[in-house]
Amino acid sequence: MKALILVGGFGTRLRPLTLTLPKPLVEFANRPMILHQIEALVKAGVTDIVLAVNYRPEIMANFMKKYSEEYKVNITFSIESEPLGTAGPLALARDVLAKDSEPFFVLNSDVICDFPFHEMAAFHKAHGGEGTILVTKVDDPSKYGVVVNKGTSSVIERFVEKPTEFVSNKINAGIYIFNPSILNRIEPRPTSIEKEIFPAMARDSQLHTMDLPNFWMDVGQPKDYLTGTGLYLTSLSKKEPGRLASGPGITGFVLIHPSAKIGQDCKIGPNVVIGPDVVLGDGVRMSKTVILEGAQIRDHAWLQNTIVGWHSTVGRWARLEGVSVLGDDVHVADEVYINGGCVLPHKSVSSNIAEPSIIM
Ligand code: GDD
Ligand code: MG
Repeated sequence: MKALILVGGFGTRLRPLTLTLPKPLVEFANRPMILHQIEALVKAGVTDIVLAVNYRPEIMANFMKKYSEEYKVNITFSIESEPLGTAGPLALARDVLAKDSEPFFVLNSDVICDFPFHEMAAFHKAHGGEGTILVTKVDDPSKYGVVVNKGTSSVIERFVEKPTEFVSNKINAGIYIFNPSILNRIEPRPTSIEKEIFPAMARDSQLHTMDLPNFWMDVGQPKDYLTGTGLYLTSLSKKEPGRLASGPGITGFVLIHPSAKIGQDCKIGPNVVIGPDVVLGDGVRMSKTVILEGAQIRDHAWLQNTIVGWHSTVGRWARLEGVSVLGDDVHVADEVYINGGCVLPHKSVSSNIAEPSIIM
């Protein structure tokens, strides 16, 4: 089977992290976001993956060569000379997607869940329509695509992208499977699959929903990235509890890379991920926090609701909270307080940031 992953877009909502790496390569639970998807696709029998890219393709290409070999999957790039939106890239990759009559998967690159690809393919073939989209329920549907089904059937009656008025709380999870015939609806020009193609398919009763079991999150913004991390760790605790940390000082679900060094008397968790080569001093406390590779957190620092970027340092007795995000190579001095600060790469912070703000 084949799949296309939409890896374009500038990832602006995940800045400052995406100033350093394209969004799909930012680590989620210690592995690049996109690897979670590639691994699940390969497990479901996908042999060809097209990455639809419009932004810094060279960085992606370097990473993907390695993964292509590791996962024994054929990964190709489809490079847009101008952003083609969420539908145009399908037309651009027509040669691969329509090379046989089998359906293919399409994924947004920033969604995390248990990826039930096997079940999806079986469900899709059974109903015989042109497309199936995974749906889930959320409390605030306004930042997503919303669907309304025909009665109790799986057929979609209406698809509304980012509704301004309440339509339904059932939303598009950003994971699809389509028959190649969808390509007859799409031109290789900038086109939104959500605003142009889905409404047309719904009018023809060719678009179905499949309910997504278990957790789901679009992790393309810091607050959701942190919430998604907690959901992922909870799911991991059921599937592979042995991968989570345990012992004195650990509360709830915590993932610690084996190369990280943890000081004395730390209190870690719940919902914490500590990346490779991270060093925590003594008495460090953190919850709902992600520390990316090579960062150093000095003695008695206190972090909550925070993402610490690669190779950054947080000083002794510093206190970070309120969805604070430090970019790559940021240095926070001893005793500094940061509440909701978004700090761009290579900055040093030596005075308090009491209110949410961007430090450039
Ligand atoms: N190749 C390519 N070219 N990819 C693109 C482009 C483009 O021009 N524009 C966006 N993408 C990719 C993004 O990288 C992402 O993987 C995906 O398309 C969706 O774009 P987002 O910017 O993340 O959209 P969203 O989160 O606002 O909304 C989408 O996802 C929601 C679920 O998370 C929509 O599909 C909603 O309907 C959906 O509910
Ligand atoms: Mg998104």
